[in-house]
Amino acid sequence: MLMRAHVGDQLIVESPTTGATKRDGEIVGLHHDDGTPPYEVRWSDTDQVTLVFPGPDAHIHPIGNEPERQDEPERQGEGTGTGHRTTTAAHHGARSLSEAVVTALVEDATAAPSMHNAQPWRFQYFRRRRVFHLRADLRGALPHADPELRALHIGCGAALMNLRVAVAHEGWEAQTRPLPDPGDPMLLASVTLTRPLGDEADPAALYPAVRSRHTSRYPFTEREIPASVRTALVDAAHREDVSLSFVSGWHLQHVVDLALEAEARNLTDAGAAADLARYTRGEDDARSATEGVPEYAFGPRRRIGKAPVRDFAGGKTVPGRPTADFETAPHLVLLSTSRDRPVDWLHTGQAVERVLLSATLAGLSASFVTQALEWHDLRWPLRDPTSGMAYVQMVLRLGYGPRGTQTPRRPVQDVLDIEP
Ligand SMILES: Cc1cc2nc3c(=O)[nH]c(=O)nc-3n(C[C@H](O)[C@H](O)[C@H](O)COP(=O)(O)O)c2cc1C
Repeated sequence: MLMRAHVGDQLIVESPTTGATKRDGEIVGLHHDDGTPPYEVRWSDTDQVTLVFPGPDAHIHPIGNEPERQDEPERQGEGTGTGHRTTTAAHHGARSLSEAVVTALVEDATAAPSMHNAQPWRFQYFRRRRVFHLRADLRGALPHADPELRALHIGCGAALMNLRVAVAHEGWEAQTRPLPDPGDPMLLASVTLTRPLGDEADPAALYPAVRSRHTSRYPFTEREIPASVRTALVDAAHREDVSLSFVSGWHLQHVVDLALEAEARNLTDAGAAADLARYTRGEDDARSATEGVPEYAFGPRRRIGKAPVRDFAGGKTVPGRPTADFETAPHLVLLSTSRDRPVDWLHTGQAVERVLLSATLAGLSASFVTQALEWHDLRWPLRDPTSGMAYVQMVLRLGYGPRGTQTPRRPVQDVLDIEP
């Protein structure tokens, strides 16, 4: 049968042996009115347009011209359990996303954690190419705690993971490229919506946790985390090329001591105090309440226990803040990478968010323990000596206990530009 296509359709080239997609692109120009080849194709991986004579390993996926199927709504909530926000059929009638959908996807992305809730990100959506760009916003950088922008990349990586989850939940398969332009290192990632998603549950199944995950600075119980949950969290990090290990024995005491040492240094460090002052908010603070950590999210002050929770009050007394006993044997996990480049930090951010979303769905609460990572001389000793040369990128505390509280975010209009 002769191949026919319309402008806006997708050309998909598959591996003849595995059937996996090798390359895909949008047909942006026809040479014959009847839609037969050759085609002008904008490839999703390079963004370049070339003239293509499709071979036997290529087929057309009609994006803009397939009639909507009446049976499609039954897919919702069935089988995959992903509960797509809209049906796949909806996409068959749309070449790009509506402004409302783009806005909702970016709102999901910005529910991600970021150091001191500084939200160091900006998003662009290019309608015609169905591409999101995630850029670093240096106004959210923390000059004292994070001079190398490692934490900034981790926060943006977490937002990238949320975007990937939301896009999959919306029913789209996406291709993610970290640092796609070597000449523009603040362009942290591109996410190209390539074609309607099949029945894959991953990562869309994580979607219900995107808005319910919050950092919890409350005491957790001493309850063990079952082996099956631990294995699932190790796997979640592994999927993003990051190693996750539970800290135990003498190493646990060592990691706790390093965090407490860092916390003690922060109390007398003018730089750490300046970062904290910029991003903490009292109840009666008149400044914009769309960023930073509000007092209600500080959690109680530790009376006893070994859980190294950052004290956002910076040692000051907050009227009405209760004290509490924290766990004596906290569950801490280290996330590590074999190298320490910006791309590794982005992987870490995606792994952190994948782990946190998975943990939330498994009924766990979590907080961050990054104090020691912010001091050069304390970061290296954090590592597990049996892990070879791995770089520790993140320390998380997990456990069963109260959920955290929702904290503010900047309005999406302030962080999103929609381009033609
Ligand atoms: C790289 C990074 C480092 C962080 N470090 C800490 C920390 O040391 N202590 C802490 O309590 N929270 C830490 N956080 C959590 C942020 O404070 C939190 O994500 C932010 O306030 C938004 O709140 P939410 O996570 O509840 O949405 C960190 C987050 C990131 C991404």
